[in-house]
Amino acid sequence: MRWTIDPGLCPKGTTSPPGDKSISHRALLLAALADGESRLANLPTGEDVAATASCLRQLGCDVDMAAGEVRVHGRGLRGLRVPAGVLDCGNSGTTMRLLAGILAGQPFSATLDGDESLRARPMERVAKPLRLMGAAIETTSGHAPISVQGGELRGLVYDTPVSSAQIKSCVLLAGLYAAGETTLREQRPSRDHTERLLRAMGAQLTGAAHRGGATLQPPERLEPLEGAVPGDISSATFWLVAAVLSPGSDVTLEHVGMNPGRAAVVDLLQSWGADIEVVHGPEWYGEPTAALRVRGTSEPLSGGAIRGDLTARLIDEIPALALLGAVTREGVEVHDGGELRVKESDRIASVAAALHALGGQVETAADGLTVAGGQQLGGGVIAAAGDHRIALAGAAVAVCARGTVHIDGAEAADISYPGFIQEFMTLGGAL
Ligand code: S3P
Repeated sequence: MRWTIDPGLCPKGTTSPPGDKSISHRALLLAALADGESRLANLPTGEDVAATASCLRQLGCDVDMAAGEVRVHGRGLRGLRVPAGVLDCGNSGTTMRLLAGILAGQPFSATLDGDESLRARPMERVAKPLRLMGAAIETTSGHAPISVQGGELRGLVYDTPVSSAQIKSCVLLAGLYAAGETTLREQRPSRDHTERLLRAMGAQLTGAAHRGGATLQPPERLEPLEGAVPGDISSATFWLVAAVLSPGSDVTLEHVGMNPGRAAVVDLLQSWGADIEVVHGPEWYGEPTAALRVRGTSEPLSGGAIRGDLTARLIDEIPALALLGAVTREGVEVHDGGELRVKESDRIASVAAALHALGGQVETAADGLTVAGGQQLGGGVIAAAGDHRIALAGAAVAVCARGTVHIDGAEAADISYPGFIQEFMTLGGAL
């Protein structure tokens, strides 16, 4: 599918980004292990979270999609059933890596597989700690398909060599089934949604992974969940970027998740000069929310450097921020982002290709990129590279291009944000 975005869009209005993808995967997985029924609203309708729901159904858990609400009939920690076939995780690394942790504790074996992009992503990073806990895991030369023969697990103290919420969550979810406590330590802070939900559901989890370790005592049971999952700050980012690039724009984003490990994009854009007003809302199981009002001015943002912990906290926002960098005053540098190479696409390469497609300049490195500021972007054809965040980031920066921007392979956006382009055109004044 090709999106075509003509110059001159200026978004105005109010919208709610889809429910947070990371939180929703975890809410579904943990609800399946809870005692009792969970009722979850605002789950995203994108393909990634649908993959998690469909794997859970194969594992014997009823996940009913009713109007505006998903009901998960929890099977308790030990109630999952042997799946009839391979568990298809689609494009979703979170589904595969987190489910691997849960499967490691089940008294049966199962195979996880995914699409071509997911099969290219590293899986030994989760297989290794699960083996140390006692599960038998086979990867296909380090990749999916992965077979997991679960069983009796022992607790573990694991220093993960890569700071990743998916590795951390995988180990903690396996820790639900371990004899004894499980501790996970990481060097840089990764998103902590699993920890917040586990605590909210009654598990005893102390400490923080990047501050000496997060330690889980295996619980007897987990309480069910209810209510509306906060909106996805990573999806909200496309609106923030489009609005700051359109003088006269005025967009309000409602019920957006503001977990401190995820919301760095708001502080960063504000520190670069963006006009973003934050009105705090209620928490959902320890997850803060806010309404964000963003207005565009004709003054370019300053831009700046993203490195260290900040890179880890902004990892999913970097495609949009790097593209935005071209039209800032000083440009945007990204360092310490080697993980960008192993996302849904090689995001250093696909961001560089997108900038080149619009006539921009960029220098790439093994773990980052440097985008000079003060550039003018023209029209062109951006290849989404099978990556939802490239399609969506390309559409967001198209508002400041001097010519028409086409996004090829735009169907990739359905992974996290179905319906984005229609809303973008409507609020942007094109429809
Ligand atoms: C995610 C964690 C991040 C992120 C991904 C979703 C999660 O990956 O990039 O989009 O839901 O746990 P890593 O944990 O590998 O950094």
